[in-house]
Amino acid sequence: MKITVIGTGYVGLVTGTCLAETGNDVLCVDINEEKVNLMKKGKVPIYEPQLEVLFAKNIKSGRLNFTTSIKEGLDHGTIIFLALPTPEDEDGAADLSYVLGVAEDIGKMITDYKVIVGKSTVPVGTADLVRKTISKHTDQEFDVVSNPEFLREGYAVGDFLKPERIIIGTDSERAIQLLKKIYKPYTQMGSRLLIMDEKSSELTKYASNSFLATKITFINEVANFCERVGADVDMVRIGMGADSRIGNRFLFPGIGYGGSCFPKDVKALHKSGKEEHYNFKLLEAVIDVNRSQKVALVPKIMDYFGGALKGKKIAIWGLAFKPETDDIREASSLDMIRDLLKLGADIVSYDPEAMPNVKRKLGNKISFAKDMYTALEDAEALVICTEWSIFKLPDFKRMKKQLKTPVIFDGRNLYDLQEMKSEGFYYSSIGRPVIH
Ligand code: UDX
Repeated sequence: MKITVIGTGYVGLVTGTCLAETGNDVLCVDINEEKVNLMKKGKVPIYEPQLEVLFAKNIKSGRLNFTTSIKEGLDHGTIIFLALPTPEDEDGAADLSYVLGVAEDIGKMITDYKVIVGKSTVPVGTADLVRKTISKHTDQEFDVVSNPEFLREGYAVGDFLKPERIIIGTDSERAIQLLKKIYKPYTQMGSRLLIMDEKSSELTKYASNSFLATKITFINEVANFCERVGADVDMVRIGMGADSRIGNRFLFPGIGYGGSCFPKDVKALHKSGKEEHYNFKLLEAVIDVNRSQKVALVPKIMDYFGGALKGKKIAIWGLAFKPETDDIREASSLDMIRDLLKLGADIVSYDPEAMPNVKRKLGNKISFAKDMYTALEDAEALVICTEWSIFKLPDFKRMKKQLKTPVIFDGRNLYDLQEMKSEGFYYSSIGRPVIH
């Protein structure tokens, strides 16, 4: 089938590439000419595992093409995916200007039947708003469908090719049949395809992300309490997770959730509630707890050094908001760095992928090491912010040799407490007894 994807952020790119992989003829549209030229040459503008190979393969096969022209895009596909950004505006609401801007263009240019499929995370009622915006300009028949994405960064290709569920929000039988067809390669493998009204579909996305953020926040609060009573949150979470009603996923305590979705979506749902005169008290608490959790290690670091951080060299491992990505949006590392710099510390960091992004943001406020061990040279403590695999089984002897003092503050609970004791580290993590 002929498909157009408008917006080539990570959702758009993964959607376009994976749909080309299953045999569709896909045209991706983006207003950024430089980016389009890069992609035409086969270069993926983001870091996403597995994407590069599929991307190159489908460009070569001629099934994946790029343009800056909305008109060309609209002429190409019967199904038009909108994968546009919906950033947070000043008061936490989703900014719909990109989505509605493209809807205006579609209204002015549409000449035959199209299914406009919203992939972006948008407040309830947006599909209707898109429909009304297009209709202002045309009498042409079209359908608008809500079809939220549930892709995790770092696993987006796998999540697209083997989804747990696909949600199609529309009451148009014609649109349902077309979408069922393009999703058939995935549903054949057993994924559930759920058809519902568009408002419920829109809300499912916000509710899912807010629930996961709440689950993480809950275990973070339990972790904070464990520290006060001398319990070990790792034992508690294993005990809790063994109950299949709770489940063991997304129950890892740490220095808070970040990224492009959870923080923005929790705030947007809270804001949507307010607009309808409904106060989501639980979400307010989640936002608040997460804000302080991101810097939960700072008072521990302060305590250890007796409040004197001026001129002390601190190493940071991990800058990305999570492993397998170079994304630093809402990363806990940035809050940590902000506070440590304020306290006068000198920071040397290492991250396998995210250093260029942090350098662009912070310039030379902190320095960047060429590898994880070099970052430790003469540092008085190591602070771990992201659980990259390479940090999980390090050479502890070498670490001890490089560090000025063997002190670790671990925001992701990577190491075994007994091992830290026998290796002779001072080791402070989240929700577990301090080793010293
Ligand atoms: C999320 C959703 O998982 C995905 O379905 C949605 O479409 C987009 O948002 P993503 O932001 O890529 O995906 O990352 P995810 O793996 O969900 O992690 C989000 C944040 O939660 C990270 O900062 C991570 O460190 C944190 N997290 C996750 C925890 O602190 N503990 C956990 O147990 C799980």
